[in-house]
Amino acid sequence: MDSEDRPITPSHGLPETHSSPEEDKSVLQIWGKSSLKGHVTISGAKNSALVVMAGALLCPQDCRLRNVPSLADVSRMGEILASLGVKLTRQGDVLDINASYIGQSTAPYELVSQLRASFFVIGPVLARLGVARVPLPGGCAIGARPVDLHVRGLQAMGADVHIEHGTVNAYVRGPSRRLKGAKIYLDYPSVGATETLMMAATLADGETILENAAQEPEVIDLANFCRAMGAKIQGAGTKTIVISGVPSLHSADYAIIPDRVEAATFLVAGAITQSEISLSPVIPDHLTAAIAKLRAIGALITPESPNCLRIAPGHGLTATDIETLPYPGFPTDMQAQFMALLTVSEGDSIVTETVFENRLRHVAELNRMGADIRVKGNHAVIRGVPTLSGAPVVATDLRASAALVVAALAAEGKTTIQGLHHLDRGYENLDTKLQKLGVKLQRLQGDSTTEVETAPLTPIAPN
Ligand code: EPU
Repeated sequence: MDSEDRPITPSHGLPETHSSPEEDKSVLQIWGKSSLKGHVTISGAKNSALVVMAGALLCPQDCRLRNVPSLADVSRMGEILASLGVKLTRQGDVLDINASYIGQSTAPYELVSQLRASFFVIGPVLARLGVARVPLPGGCAIGARPVDLHVRGLQAMGADVHIEHGTVNAYVRGPSRRLKGAKIYLDYPSVGATETLMMAATLADGETILENAAQEPEVIDLANFCRAMGAKIQGAGTKTIVISGVPSLHSADYAIIPDRVEAATFLVAGAITQSEISLSPVIPDHLTAAIAKLRAIGALITPESPNCLRIAPGHGLTATDIETLPYPGFPTDMQAQFMALLTVSEGDSIVTETVFENRLRHVAELNRMGADIRVKGNHAVIRGVPTLSGAPVVATDLRASAALVVAALAAEGKTTIQGLHHLDRGYENLDTKLQKLGVKLQRLQGDSTTEVETAPLTPIAPN
């Protein structure tokens, strides 16, 4: 085996994960008032990669995934698949998955509790084996995040589902142990429930219709991957998805879409520093809401090519209102970063979070940096201030950590961000990518003052 060609275990292949946040003592220091310049390469989409990895469980043959980002969450999903008996090998951004043998129908609590997306394995494991036991993932920093829609959908497809001792036990009775196609209306267009039920339906007996389905690009990506394996799926990306079950799927070679949230985070970084940068690969259609809001705030965004965007300063930054909604509405995963931008945009903005009940925890940290934000219920009222000031801050969740990074870029002086295990879950090589754009930053490991990376003195030219 090539030295680069390693099976995924907790200590090989993908980057190691912090086993507990308490162990994560590293901090990121960022010196603000940077002007960014150059080009940034956008990685594969985290939320596509995670669910497509789960989707590979549907296939009894080799599957090759390309453009898989190197992230702590991807590592954790790899550990969960490995715990079920699946073989994984990674080389660069190519991940080979062989789920010909699934020796376990039970996912381990220690892993599922660390990564909510791992609950999504319930759909493909149940479809393949007729039985699946997956612990309830529990709440997380941004909300309670129940899985009732996943469970009700699987029940509609004929599964017996019981929740006992914190674990969801799902069985399909009958000699074939096959789920049955059903017409399912989702009370809310949940991304995860749509994905779980779409995967389960690919191998079900008959036709499944998902009404009020999520329309996110990651749902389409999963559908395209399943289709590459021979699944019959129509309507992904609309509110109605129709899946005709097939007896089995076959091997596929599939490239994950670019990460729209990472792209939006860099666009915000360009806007807040009044810089000119370009990014690719991106799918501009996936960024429609973010681009509309950036233009309303005052940034100039132009397509350089079908998969490359350039952002440049307009005439200052102006307040605007934002409400998060399911796609194609404004994404909750971009709310915190945009709020950071609005803190230095002239006038009063209102940000309303409607998707998760507890996703405004970055407000207190942004206020520590001199922002003027008041929260009432799920609304945040942001009064633009002329400038932020660097401060020690703590990241409370993944996108909150990105908001603090973005705020730090525009702040006077040094910002020290703790809680980097959140950042490392979802942003591949963020430190290096920012450094290449000319940002001065360094990561200090643990209690020591070991300098892990230092800033280049001159930014690279755009390419
Ligand atoms: N919900 C229920 N019952 C369910 C499922 C969801 O009430 O059975 C509720 C949730 O509690 C939440 C809302 O519905 O209030 C939306 O949840 P959804 O199921 O759509 O989200 P998810 O599938 O758990 C994915 C992403 C999130 C992203 C949301 C919304 C993955 C792995 N995660 O989560 O990504 O915010 O969709 O777009 O795909 C992130 O990347 O930072 C992140 C949190």
